[in-house]
Amino acid sequence: MAHVPVMIEEVLKFFDPKPNQNFIDCTLGDGGHAFAVLERIAPNGQLLGIDADPDAIAIVESGIRNQELGNRLILENDNFRNLAAIVREKKFGPVYGILLDLGFSTSTLERGRGFSFEKDELLDMRFDPRGGIRAAEIVNGWDQRQIAELLEEYGEEKLAREIASKIVAERKKKPIVMTKQLVETVLMAYREKLKSKQEVPWVGGIHPATKTFQALRIEVNDELGALQEVLPQAVEVLQAGGRLAVIAFHSLEDRIVKQFFRSWPDAKIKILTKKPVVASDEEIKNNPKARSAKLRVVAKV
Ligand SMILES: C[S@@+](CC[C@H](N)C(=O)[O-])C[C@H]1O[C@@H](n2cnc3c(N)ncnc32)[C@H](O)[C@@H]1O
Repeated sequence: MAHVPVMIEEVLKFFDPKPNQNFIDCTLGDGGHAFAVLERIAPNGQLLGIDADPDAIAIVESGIRNQELGNRLILENDNFRNLAAIVREKKFGPVYGILLDLGFSTSTLERGRGFSFEKDELLDMRFDPRGGIRAAEIVNGWDQRQIAELLEEYGEEKLAREIASKIVAERKKKPIVMTKQLVETVLMAYREKLKSKQEVPWVGGIHPATKTFQALRIEVNDELGALQEVLPQAVEVLQAGGRLAVIAFHSLEDRIVKQFFRSWPDAKIKILTKKPVVASDEEIKNNPKARSAKLRVVAKV
């Protein structure tokens, strides 16, 4: 299933792309936002599309049917934390707009790398499978206290300590290498705590494994570190009057974006969204992933 771009109308409204402007999409994914921008910046505007996931880049590349579009879409398989170096190396610019649509896409869940708790796959969770630590290494290698802190901090998981304790007990019997093993371990902790006999004791409409998976994914990909690194680079790379739009999907990300924007002097950037923009009820109905999205935009002075 293709990823449905979140808040695309709102992003386009803030960017208001004009013919021949250049843009950067730091989180290309399936290219939903990128192609909408590319259409509006024809005939000569270019878009630099970055994604850490080599499959995302390969799929977008293989879908380019038309030479004209191919010439205007520049692809880079890299982490957006290297934004300034990429722009320098490609001599890309001037840059009118930069988009960060954070986290993972529907397509990421289909990669077979253990992002989804609904599938039984190896516990990997790396956006870029060519390097870095796998989720299974954390689950089987970290001590109980470290796991509990991770689940608490990055998952905001209320049962962090109980889940960490169950993980350590289960991995002694057999290493936890598959997503379903981890899901079952989390469910055991929940059933015990809630004294529930239900197969899946849903909490507030959320599957109990959601937060554990979120915490592991954030850690594996150092998502918050990458975000902190890219924001100042994005402001630097923009031309005067250019816009930076960030869509965050949980409070940890949104807090970093909000604080970063507020920490810059007014002489440097102007905040265009006093409050974060959220998706319309209509969009949320059609695309539940949009429910938690928060869009913040600044203009470079
Ligand atoms: C929400 S999706 C973007 C979807 C895209 N806007 C679309 O409409 O199809 C986020 C994408 O960012 C990528 N990503 C996440 N963190 C990254 C990072 N630090 N550097 C580069 N790409 C990253 C993921 O691999 C994923 O493809």
